[in-house]
Amino acid sequence: MKVMVVGGGGREHALVWKLSQSPRVSEIIAAPGNAGIARQAECVPVGATDIRGLLDLARSRDVDLTFVGPEAPLVEGLADAFHQAGLRVFGPVRRAAALEGSKAFAKDLMSRHGIPTAAHRTFEDANAARDYIRSLDGPCVVKADGLAAGKGVIVADTVEEAVAAVDEIMVKRAFGTAGDRVVIEERLAGEEVSVLAFTDGETVLPLLPAQDHKRVFDGDRGPNTGGMGAYAPAPVCTPQIYDRVVQEILEPAVRGLREEGITYRGVLYAGLMLTPDGPKVLEFNVRFGDPEAQPLLALLETDLVDVVGAVLENRLADLSLTWRAGAAMCVVLASGGYPGAYEKGRVIRGLNEAEKTGAVVFHAGTAERDGKLVTAGGRVLGVTAVAAELSEAVRRAYQAAELIDFEGMHFRRDIARKALQNC
Ligand code: AMP
Ligand code: GLY
Repeated sequence: MKVMVVGGGGREHALVWKLSQSPRVSEIIAAPGNAGIARQAECVPVGATDIRGLLDLARSRDVDLTFVGPEAPLVEGLADAFHQAGLRVFGPVRRAAALEGSKAFAKDLMSRHGIPTAAHRTFEDANAARDYIRSLDGPCVVKADGLAAGKGVIVADTVEEAVAAVDEIMVKRAFGTAGDRVVIEERLAGEEVSVLAFTDGETVLPLLPAQDHKRVFDGDRGPNTGGMGAYAPAPVCTPQIYDRVVQEILEPAVRGLREEGITYRGVLYAGLMLTPDGPKVLEFNVRFGDPEAQPLLALLETDLVDVVGAVLENRLADLSLTWRAGAAMCVVLASGGYPGAYEKGRVIRGLNEAEKTGAVVFHAGTAERDGKLVTAGGRVLGVTAVAAELSEAVRRAYQAAELIDFEGMHFRRDIARKALQNC
């Protein structure tokens, strides 16, 4: 079967790597892909949100299945367009993808179906939002309603900061129309965990719990990023908490959508805060996490093509997932300056040596120039290792990461430390 993967980051490299192991996959096309993906797939320069271009590509190349990595094309209706054209596609339709595309929609759905989340209010008027912030007792979080590439969330320590965030989002329009509305919510405390699940709209098949590291510096300091590293399974999500997440959050979300006439088919990602009152939703995403996909797919034994078939044909109830024993960790190597402004085109060295250690190096922002591998994004590589014990996976991933070098490179040294300290 010929498969197309939409996107060009570390998550998409992990998807291509996993799909290429399926005996049912004969050829993979990536749009647009990256320099690492180009080793396992044919990269075609069609952008991930160019829905018409992707449709043409899928048709002209007789693609049997399209797997969508990022959220933007799903929110814009890629799955709907492919379904209309009679093409098989993995990823939710536009109305279901609104779970990530509109935080107000997600919050309202959670309210309607009793899904635990931070208390919130939605505003279309900046003055009303500011007044509300001033009326609150405690600290709050200000969120642009729409997609803002992970930057539209401001966790405010003071009233002034929260008010400034409203100005940034609604008045200065830092995120364009994503700031037509803001969601202001109660600030929760606790440890974060990501629980993802495959669903065909009826059955919810959860993956291992994973933990991301969103802040740029060690000790969860500095600004938020797309994610500086992740590991799975995350022991902080005990079997009891995991069951609650499935029963109180993932299943009611899928059921709630279905009751409202929306069938969710794809991966549903719940970003959670483990509070003293139980797990609460911080956000829903409608696709694999990046970098959570890297350790999760490194551990998944089940053929991803089988999972996709079961999701698209409503057969997920008959499937169970099998996992490699042990744990996996992925550390992201980032460009100097990231998540702020950074330079591209830095030559990357040491990749072969790193891969010889047995670690898998997933490419995110890389390109090939004059026969050399160079940086082409903020998050450049995701060095991933699997081992029987998490501590060993961490040791191996860092051992491989130390062999790689490019000017300005930085990475967190404490990925999974919380889990190792709690052991
Ligand atoms: P989101 O994109 O909504 O997941 O927000 C990005 C990050 O902001 C999360 O991973 C949390 O670290 C933080 N965050 C979001 N909502 C809250 C909240 N209600 N309370 C505390 N932190 C939050
Ligand atoms: N790692 C967070 C995300 O993919 O949204």
